[in-house]
Amino acid sequence: MSRPTKALINLDALRNNFRLAQALAPSSQTMPMVKANAYGHGMVPVATALADLAPAFGVACIEEALELRKAGITQPILLLEGTFSAEEVAIAALKNIWMMVENHAQKEAIINTELPMSVYVWLGLDSGMHRLGFQPSDIADVYGQLLNSRNVHKPIVLASHFACAEDLKNSYTQQQLDSFNQALASLSEYGDAQPLQSLANSASILARPDTHRDWNRPGYMLYGSSPFDHPHSNADKLQAVMTLTSAVISLRHIAAGEVVGYSGRWRADKPSTIATIAIGYGDGYPRGAPNGTPVLVNGVECPLVGNVSMDMITVDVSALTRVAIGDPVELWGPNLAVSRVAKLCNTIGYELMTRIPARVPRIYQ
Ligand SMILES: Cc1ncc(COP(=O)(O)O)c(C=O)c1O
Repeated sequence: MSRPTKALINLDALRNNFRLAQALAPSSQTMPMVKANAYGHGMVPVATALADLAPAFGVACIEEALELRKAGITQPILLLEGTFSAEEVAIAALKNIWMMVENHAQKEAIINTELPMSVYVWLGLDSGMHRLGFQPSDIADVYGQLLNSRNVHKPIVLASHFACAEDLKNSYTQQQLDSFNQALASLSEYGDAQPLQSLANSASILARPDTHRDWNRPGYMLYGSSPFDHPHSNADKLQAVMTLTSAVISLRHIAAGEVVGYSGRWRADKPSTIATIAIGYGDGYPRGAPNGTPVLVNGVECPLVGNVSMDMITVDVSALTRVAIGDPVELWGPNLAVSRVAKLCNTIGYELMTRIPARVPRIYQ
């Protein structure tokens, strides 16, 4: 028998979530974000499962793009951070890899490198996140330079990213949208040579149709989690793709006053039954999970007690009438939202899913 710790990946749910992103924005092309190992779900299997639906894929760097090419993915692949050297530009041109250009060094590398063919370029605008992209006042000039370069395929895509899209009451998204629209208007001097546009991430695909443009870029929603911390009619249709699962590997009864785990962080105030589960921070379960974090044992919510170890956690299963070694455990998945666990750990579901290491086998279903 192998260690029961596994990440079950439901590819039908993934495809349904993709179809939802498409259906919400029927006039846009939907480019799934599969960077960071497809948010921990396995980049190649995820891209393969979406290959007949997706017109292109988004990754962070050329290493990820080349891994997809090696696996037989033929769609265009966008590098969200662009290239880091002129050599990468040349490789990208040959391999139909598209690139964000978000600073002057990247722009110069594209314009000045001898290329076998033109490259597809997304011009990154800093509409207010202040992480990547050209300033709105520079956009017209940079756009003109790219437009005039034989190395650049036309049309160019004007792209930006929202900082606060998951907070629907935050007016910053509107501010960024206004900045984007102004930057776009500054390109009117180029007449018919107008760019395509791309803005929306998961939250804005789900809740802001006014941000849907030629290309939308969903990530988190594809994996079945809502970016919102409140019910939302569209987000509530998403289906969790990952079930992080394990099993009870040991059981004991402890007396009132006994402590559990490293540093004795939890003390029983009454006689208690403690189940040890084969999952720990070495499997990506967050070490910061506090006492009381819900864990589903036999489908019933039980509280985590004691510090998370590298390979194990301990759970108070006193409330269960029946529990035995081998009983199934869900750490997060369709019955326990990863975002709920994440919130208790002062993080986000993105981080929890992305940090699951290779030692946890992904089982595709
Ligand atoms: C540039 C860019 N576009 C789109 C996305 C997808 O965002 P989300 O996962 O919130 O849909 C990301 C995620 O980090 C991103 O960096």
